Amino acid sequence: MDKSSPILLFDSGVGGLTVYDALRDVLPDAPVIYASDLAGLPYGTKTEAQIAARVAGLLGRMAERYQPRLACIACNTASTIALGMVRDVLEIPVVGTVPAIKPAAALTQSGTIGLVGTEATIRQAYVDELEREFAEGKRLLRIAAPGLVEAAEAKLRGQPVDPAVIADVHDRLTAMAGDAQIDTLVLACTHFPLLAGELGEAFGPGVRQVDGAQGIARRIAHLLSGQSFAASGPNRFIVTGPMAGAAGLEAALAARGFAPPEIF
Ligand code: DGL
Repeated sequence: MDKSSPILLFDSGVGGLTVYDALRDVLPDAPVIYASDLAGLPYGTKTEAQIAARVAGLLGRMAERYQPRLACIACNTASTIALGMVRDVLEIPVVGTVPAIKPAAALTQSGTIGLVGTEATIRQAYVDELEREFAEGKRLLRIAAPGLVEAAEAKLRGQPVDPAVIADVHDRLTAMAGDAQIDTLVLACTHFPLLAGELGEAFGPGVRQVDGAQGIARRIAHLLSGQSFAASGPNRFIVTGPMAGAAGLEAALAARGFAPPEIF
C-alpha cells in the first residue's frame, strides 16, 4: 500500500465535511481527497436511477484517477440508494452513511424520534428496514427538508441561515408528533450537523441530535488499522462542474487545511 494513497470522501456538496471533521479526529495524518459533486447537487430531489448512475459512474472514475485506499460515500441519499452498486464497481473498501436510527432508538426516553433527511432518503426501503430492525415499538417521524441542504451550503459560504427554514422543520415535526414529545432528532443528511446550533435553538435543550459522522469515522479507522500514512501535501478538495460552484468556500476549506479547490 502506497503510504500517500488517500481516503476518498464523496458527497453531493459540503455535507460530507461533517464526516471529514470526525475523521480528522481519529486519523489526523491520513491523506484525504474530498470530492464534492456540486454539478449534481442536490441529490435529494433526484430519482433513484439518476442518483445511482451518477454516483456509481463518478466514484468509478474518481477511484481510477486518485487510487484511494478506501472510499466513503459521505452522503445518506447516495448511500441508501447506491452503496451496493458502488461496492460492486470498486475494488477497495467502501463505507456508507446511513441514518443513525439505531443509536437514536437506544437514546430516546419518550419513544418519539424525529428524522430529517432528503426527499430521496426518507422514502428508501433501506430506511424502512432500519426502522423495523432497530426502532420497533418507537415512533419514527420522517420529514424531508431540502431547505436545510441549501441553508448548510450557504452557511459554509459565510451567508446567513434563513431562520424560516429552521422553524419550518421544527413546526412540521412538532405538528406530526401531536401530544407526544420528540426527544431525539436523527440528522439523516450529512449537511444537517452543520446547522446543529440553529436546530438546537429551535428544538430546545431537551432534544438530542444524533448523526452518523463519528460512527463512520470509527469504522474507517477500524478498516484501515495497521496501515501507515504519509501525506504528500495538504488535503485536496475536488469539485465537479465549474469552479464558480465552490466560490465562498475558501475560509471553510482553509480552516480545515485543504488546498484550494480543483476541478474533477
Ligand atoms: N448530503 C446529502 C445527504 O447526506 C444530501 C444533500 C443533497 O440533497 O444533495 O443526504
